[in-house]
Parts: sequence; structure tokens; C-alpha cells
Amino acid sequence: MDRIIYEIEDAARQAGEIIRMAHGGELGIENKEGKANFVTKYDRKVQEFLTRRLQEIVPGARFLGEENGMDRFLPGDEEGYLFVIDPIDGTTNFIHNMHPHVTSIGLFRDGKPWAGVVYAPVTDQMFSAQRGEGAYENGKRIHSSTGKLSDNIMLTGTSGFSMSAFAVSQKAAYEFQSRCQGVRSTGSAEYNLCMTASGRVGGYFEMKLGLWDFAAGSVILEEAGGKITDYYGNPLTYRGGSGIVAVCEGIAGDENMPDMAPYMDMWDGRIG
Ligand code: IPD
Ligand code: CA
Ligand code: CA
Repeated sequence: MDRIIYEIEDAARQAGEIIRMAHGGELGIENKEGKANFVTKYDRKVQEFLTRRLQEIVPGARFLGEENGMDRFLPGDEEGYLFVIDPIDGTTNFIHNMHPHVTSIGLFRDGKPWAGVVYAPVTDQMFSAQRGEGAYENGKRIHSSTGKLSDNIMLTGTSGFSMSAFAVSQKAAYEFQSRCQGVRSTGSAEYNLCMTASGRVGGYFEMKLGLWDFAAGSVILEEAGGKITDYYGNPLTYRGGSGIVAVCEGIAGDENMPDMAPYMDMWDGRIG
């Protein structure tokens, strides 16, 4: 892998140190749009740290991040390097001092995801991938599961910001429950993608995510042999948020995989 991937991993580890030190003090919790959509002073602090440090690693790179009003893909982002950052993915878990919460750094080249680094500080798990170079967990090559849906457990996100999205997700989870070995929820989208990439689970679906929630994990998953699309089976545009359906190698092409489009059509799009 390219030297800069290792430097990005170091930056993610330093971000993890800031996150690990946070508990015991005041977290500075604020609510954002929708229900249970929080930001803490640590989300902001980690994003500020990363924008400074990553700028040193890739001079001239542009930035898109969940916090600090940097959350839109701009026309200039189509060219050169663009970092897409979620300083803490799983903030609600973080607030409750519960694993998983991760630092996620995606790197786009000419508008396309090119590399991803996801670090889980509590368990000291470092996931990384570069396009064409494979995916790794703590330096060891990882592959998604070759098992079918019936051989796997699945993950869903609970869309904490929207009760109507939650209700539809539960309907989809009900269908999966009868076709796989069980449905789980972790509270971190990027971690879910890494769990799929590393073969621990068969896949993950969630109705609405920001670009920063899957920018890094999608490269890690694809480099591990998995597949990621929207609910209609279309490739992601990587120009903004989306619903996602991520599956391992064995489930891509499994005819027992439910059609996800009707679930997206069922959602009224309400936030809150
Ligand atoms: C959230 C997590 C969660 C998902 C939410 C995301 P945040 O990100 O990824 O798993 O269900 O939709 O917003 O707010 O903790 O960065
Ligand atoms: Ca997130
Ligand atoms: Ca976040």
C-alpha cells in the first residue's frame, strides 16, 4: 500500500487517543437535526485535528466532514484528492461509553473513493484499504464471507434520527430474520461495513446515511470482495448521502437475498 495510507492510519490512531481520553470529563453534548442525533465537543475536536494533520500528509487535499459545516460535496471536489471524514461514527455509543465508535477517513481521487481507514479505539482495530491493493485489519489481509444469507448474521442501522425510517427498517429486519441466522445492530455504520469486510457478518443495510458514514468502509468492503449499492441495486454516486445495502461475496448473487426496493418506497422520508 501507498506510504500515505500508513500515515493516515497514524493520524486515525492519534484521533483514537483523543477519543479514549474523553471519558471522565465533560463531553459537551448537543442535539442536531432529528431525534437522538448528537454532536459532542470531541466530534469537533477530532475533526479539527484530522483536517490539520491530513493536510500535512496530502498537501492541497480538499475536505468534506460531518461537522463544522463541511458536509457538502462541492464541484471542486471532483478533481484531485478529497478527504471524507467522520470524526466519530457512533457518537451515541461514544456518549454512553459503549463500543463501537470509530474514526473514519475516506480518501477520494478525482471524485472516486480510492482509500479508506477506519479505527476503533476501544478494541484497537485498524481497518484499511487502497483501491487494487486489498483490505486489511491490523495489517492482516481480510476477505468478506463466501457463505450464503442462511449461513450468516446480518446488521441493520436503526436510523436514530427518524422514527418512520426505524419502523421500515424493522420490517426489513423481520424479513431478514427468517432468512439468516439473526439480525444485529451496532450503532456505527462504518464499523458495520468493516464487520462485513472481515467476514464476521454477511452484510448491512440502512435507509439513510451521510457520505462520511460509508466513504471509507465502502472501499474496505469492495477490496475485501464485497458489494455495496443503494436500495434499488444501483451503484452509489458518492456525491452525497444514500441508503445502502452492503453484502459479502457469498450474498451478492444469492437469490434468497430480499428485494430491498419496496422498503425504500415504503419510507415517507420524515426526519424526527
Ligand atoms: C450514525 C451511525 C449509526 C447510524 C446513523 C449515523 P454518527 O453516525 O453510523 O450507526 O445508524 O444513521 O448517523 O451520527 O454517530 O456519526
Ligand atoms: Ca456517522
Ligand atoms: Ca459522526
